[in-house]
Amino acid sequence: MTNPLPPSCPVSVIGSGAMGSGIAQVAARAGHPVRLFDARPGAAASAVDAVCQRLSTLAAKGKLSTDEARAAASRLSAAASLADLADSGLVIEAIVEDLEAKRGLFRELEALVGADCLFATNTSSISVTAIAAGLHNPRRLAGMHFFNPAPVMALVEIVSGLATDRATADTLFATATAWGKTPVHAKSTPGFIVNRVARPYYSEALRLLHECVTDIVTLDALMRDAAGFRMGPFELMDLIGLDVNFAVTNSIWQAFFNDPRYTPSQIQQEYVAAGWLGRKTGRGFHDYEDGVVKPDPETAAALPPPAGIVLHGTSPLAEALAQRLTARDVPFTREAQANDGRVATAGKARLYVTDGRSATRRAAETGTADTVVVDLASNYATTSRLAVAMAETCDNEAADASVALLQAAGIAVSHLRDAPGLPVMRTVAMLANEASDAVNQGVANAAAIDTAMRLGVGYPRGPLEWADAIGLPTIRTVLANLADAYGEDRYRISPLIEQRYYAAGTGQP
Ligand code: NAI
Repeated sequence: MTNPLPPSCPVSVIGSGAMGSGIAQVAARAGHPVRLFDARPGAAASAVDAVCQRLSTLAAKGKLSTDEARAAASRLSAAASLADLADSGLVIEAIVEDLEAKRGLFRELEALVGADCLFATNTSSISVTAIAAGLHNPRRLAGMHFFNPAPVMALVEIVSGLATDRATADTLFATATAWGKTPVHAKSTPGFIVNRVARPYYSEALRLLHECVTDIVTLDALMRDAAGFRMGPFELMDLIGLDVNFAVTNSIWQAFFNDPRYTPSQIQQEYVAAGWLGRKTGRGFHDYEDGVVKPDPETAAALPPPAGIVLHGTSPLAEALAQRLTARDVPFTREAQANDGRVATAGKARLYVTDGRSATRRAAETGTADTVVVDLASNYATTSRLAVAMAETCDNEAADASVALLQAAGIAVSHLRDAPGLPVMRTVAMLANEASDAVNQGVANAAAIDTAMRLGVGYPRGPLEWADAIGLPTIRTVLANLADAYGEDRYRISPLIEQRYYAAGTGQP
């Protein structure tokens, strides 16, 4: 086990904006003497005042003792020049996101500080390898990517560039742990872990919107209510700022040499062009003007429970429907697993969990006209909403019976236009695919990626543990069907998913 830097080790933070001041607060609370420097005159001193104010507010709220707040504040000071930072044991850079500015700063620092001083950059999008290039000792530099707000967010990505010493990364990892954070190791690659693996959360929603599968409010509601994300993708883009989110997608797409996996969305580009940037401009995907009432998600009108409900097999959806119908005294019968994999029958309707094919294609391929596909939910036993799509050959009576069955189980139904996959299944499959590729390319291990996605962006589950819960064969089938339907490289299956699938013996004839 590598030791953390001792609390007596002086820490300097350069750049006293949102991130730098937050990082300084974290280091001071952990016991280090902390100096904050900013190129803009007076900025560091104002930031020190603001942090001290924040510490006393936290003490007033009982989040830390008054003594602790005072002690942390006393360890924090503003530096007048870089030369004042000469005795630092660690310098964390949180200046403007510009390669040359960061390189120039570290080169200047290298001439000032001791040979043992470690360098960390808080960059969220620039190659750590590139920032370190040109230093006499690039081995001492790694990324220490905090999330905003740094005092609150637990995750820190410890990012190693090509030249970074393992000992540097390990010491920063141990130090972040000592500061009460949950660090994960990552390799310097575009987007590191979180900003890369999160792309499909936005891009699948934008894609479904682009294809007029449903509206923004319904997609947000499904990802919240059925998938269990804290915010829907459009709500989240509105919070981040559409311009910022679009720029991150663009930079990752370009960094991957225009890999279609990351192609930005024309719809998002149009919103940015309109100046509809989200909450900060009062309008983004949603309208934040005073008095505007948010529309309701698309929800099928209530129907009476259908007669002759049959549940087939013991899949999570069949089990959950059995429980929920029983709790509501709705009669049904149970049968063994059907050959066609159907979960339920209601009148003529046949309900299946989506496998990535459109209902219409599935109906044609199986000769079952009244095919209804149901989306994934994080927990079918508790979900308040589910998306469904009907084959174009499904008659109205069968369509109604399928909706009525889910409603009888207490589930609000969003009836979407039939398209390959359904929102939750598609998104989870693509998140798992991206996470698998990141593991496959040595960016980080599976546990680190799951931790990063839970802590960095508040996902209800890590994408890889989620994929395991659903079953890798299902994820693989969904991706294969999406790839087949669209004919695009975007949906290509990660080699790691293929490898795991065959290794498990599931691929045997
Ligand atoms: P900010 O704009 O709030 O603060 C940057 C500060 O750096 C400003 O006070 C500026 O005067 C100062 N500065 C600029 N060039 C300087 C130089 N050469 N020497 C000293 N000071 C200089 O920016 P923010 O949001 O705090 O971001 C800082 C860094 O952290 C960027 O690299 C950004 O990509 C990264 N980051 C930002 C996150 C966010 O959500 N805002 C999250 C994670 C990382």
